[in-house]
Formats: sequence, structure tokens, C-alpha cells
Amino acid sequence: MFFKLTDEQLMIQSMVREFSRKVIAVTAAERDRTKEFPTENFKKMGELGLMGMMVPVAYGGEGTDTVSYVLALSEIAYSCASTAVVMSVHNSIVCESINKFGTEDQKKKYLPRLTEAEIIGAFALTEPHAGSDPVSQSTTAAREEDAYVINGTKRFITSGKNGGLVIVTAKTDEAKRHKGISAFIVEQGTPGLTVGHTEDKMGLRASDTTDLIFENCRVPAENRLGEEGDGFKIAMTALDGGRIGISAQSVGLATAALDAAIKYTKQRDQFGQKISKFQGLRWMIADIATEIEAARQLMFSAAGMKDRGEKYSMQASMAKLFASEMVNRVVGKCLQLHGGYGVTKDYPIERMYRDARVFTIYEGTSEIQRIVISNHILKDKRMP
Ligand code: CAA
Repeated sequence: MFFKLTDEQLMIQSMVREFSRKVIAVTAAERDRTKEFPTENFKKMGELGLMGMMVPVAYGGEGTDTVSYVLALSEIAYSCASTAVVMSVHNSIVCESINKFGTEDQKKKYLPRLTEAEIIGAFALTEPHAGSDPVSQSTTAAREEDAYVINGTKRFITSGKNGGLVIVTAKTDEAKRHKGISAFIVEQGTPGLTVGHTEDKMGLRASDTTDLIFENCRVPAENRLGEEGDGFKIAMTALDGGRIGISAQSVGLATAALDAAIKYTKQRDQFGQKISKFQGLRWMIADIATEIEAARQLMFSAAGMKDRGEKYSMQASMAKLFASEMVNRVVGKCLQLHGGYGVTKDYPIERMYRDARVFTIYEGTSEIQRIVISNHILKDKRMP
């Protein structure tokens, strides 16, 4: 492996692997059926330090690096992709944004509650008519003395219902385009904030995805994250980290799909032998394992760059693009290896196939990742 993991990183990986397979995996299929949000599991994850991994110890976090975080997130995704997406938005986007852009008071007030999983974090950028193009959002935040009054509807918000806190972006100055967008921390229960429609999704069913409606929602000015006009930069910075998280989620789920396919092909007899003996299927397994390894290395590369304080936006988009497309190819092939049983609820591959589908869409579609990557490459001064 190009990336040599430290003893501490390996220890975190093994601790989370054990927890994930003992605690998270056992009820994953049931949660997929009932759509029940695993509040108790998140509390346990908080106790283990998984809900504020990169938050400094001073604010209740673990102060780990991003490499440890992606190892942990992959292990959770291995058992339950719904749990992993909540963990990813909470850690990569919400905790990281407050830690990076928050005031000392905001960090002291919110980070310990987030790291303990007393509250789950959500991030509200997308709107019904502003998905890939968040600058065209129409939610507004009007300054009124010592407060901002927020009006607008946000859509497809992970943990919109079960989150205790949401970072929301809104326009404070329409004329300034992306520089007129600001970010705010809004606690659940704030008058004027209501949870709207909850989506009935094909996958990630235990993670709620909702509309959030802001109607004259009055938020104290001290809850503004960063300066006025910093909201778009905060969102883009958060999404850079979030995209590494989605690559980790993809690697974890793809590994689980491969393990399920290996188990099945070693059990299933056809033509008088285990189907794992057939070269055609062995080569499929070899290709799948190679694709997963390639995605894992891109994930480590982006995480390592972030840890070293280098610019990593392009590498985060590459990791997200490749890993999310990889997992969709992989779950399809692994389902094929299960034959007819693959489309039944008797095998976990059916759930994995559904869970993976959104990975190429959320936190920036594959097409958006290609825009980010090509923009970086074409503006490189070394290019002719
Ligand atoms: N970090 C910091 N700043 C950044 C940045 C980054 N990665 N990317 C861009 N910016 C800054 C630029 O420097 C620029 O600022 P200045 O004018 O001061 O130089 C400003 O932002 C505007 O940049 P662009 O002109 O490149 O912006 P754009 O409007 O063309 O859009 C985009 C760029 C990459 C397409 C962006 O709009 C984008 O990422 N869109 C996708 C949005 C997205 O991922 N949505 C997912 C929703 S969240 C979600 O899914 C979470 C969930 O719950 C699971």
C-alpha cells in the first residue's frame, strides 16, 4: 500500500470494525425496512468518539486526522450506509465548519453537544430550484437589529428531521451573487423552522431526507457562521471535506458488497462445483477488488493532503467521482454474482445496490465533480 497507516490509525480502524460489525450491522436490514433513525447507535458512536473525530479535544472531540476518520467512516458504511451518511454530514460538514469558521463561543456552545451526539448536525444548502447551482438559491436572511430573519425552503436535507442543529445558507445581499450568501447555525425548535416533506427514498432509508421550511425564522446575529458573505465559501470548503467522506462511504459499501459476493460464490454449487471456481467469475472478483483498491488510494491521497494542510479540492472531487461511480459498478457486479437471489431481500446485496445509487448524486453530482476537476486542471499555470 502506497499509504502506510500508523499504529494509531490501524487501532482506530480495528476498534470501529469490531463495533460496526457487532452493533451497527445486526439491525441494518431491519432499519432499511422500518426507516427507523438509529438514535441509540449514534449515542454509542458519540461515546466511542466517532461523532466529532476531527474536532479538537478541547471541544470534546478526538482530534484525529482525516485518514483515521475515513478509515472509521468506511467501517461504518461497511455495515450500514444510512448510518454512514449521517456520520459523514455530521463530522465532515457540520463539525468541521463550526470548528473552522465558528467563533470561540459557537465552538464551546455547539461542538461538545455534537461530539457527544446529544444533537446530530444537518447542512441546508440545496433548494427545490437550486441543487448543482447553489448560488441561485432564494432563501433570504434579513438583518433586523441583533438578529437575522430567515425565509425560504431547503430540500433534500440529510437529518432534516432528526438533526438538532442545522447550518443553513441564505442570501443577505441579492446583488452580490455568491458573495451575498451567508451561513447560520439554527437549532431545532427555533420558532419559524419546521420540517416539511420527508422523502420516501429507494436507499439509505434509515437516514431521513427532508424539506426544511424557514418562515420568519429569527436567529440571533451571534449565530451567523463566519462573516456576512462568507456562506458560499463555507459551503464549498465543507463540501470538499464532505466529498472525501462520500469516497469513504463508497469504499466501505463496495468492500461489504465484495465480501458478500465472495461468501455467496464460495457457497453456491452449479455444474457440480462452487461457482467461485469458474474463471469468468474469479476475474470479475479480481476486477472488483482492483477497483476498490484504486478508490481507496484516491481516498487516502485526498485525506492525506487535507491532513498536511495542502489544497485538496481537486483530489477530493476525484476521490468522490471515482469512488461513487466505482461502488455503483461494484454493487451491480456483486448482485450479478448472486444470480436470482441478488434481487431478493434474503441477501444484503439488494439493499447495498439501492443504497449506493445516490452516491454519484449527493454532495455534488459526478458532473459537478468533473467541472471542479477540469476547472483546476485548465487553470493550472503549467498547462499551455
Ligand atoms: N473552497 C473555497 N472556496 C471555493 C471553492 C472551494 N472548494 N470552490 C469555489 N470557491 C469560491 C471561489 O474561489 C469563488 O470565490 P471568489 O469569487 O471570491 O474567488 C466562489 O467560490 C465562486 O466560485 P465559482 O465561480 O467556481 O462558483 P460556481 O457558481 O461556478 O460553482 C460549483 C462552482 C463547483 C459548480 C459549485 O456550485 C458546486 O460545488 N455545486 C454543487 C453543489 C453541491 O455539491 N451540492 C450538494 C448539496 S449538499 C449535500 O448533498 C449534503 C447532504 O445532505 C448529503
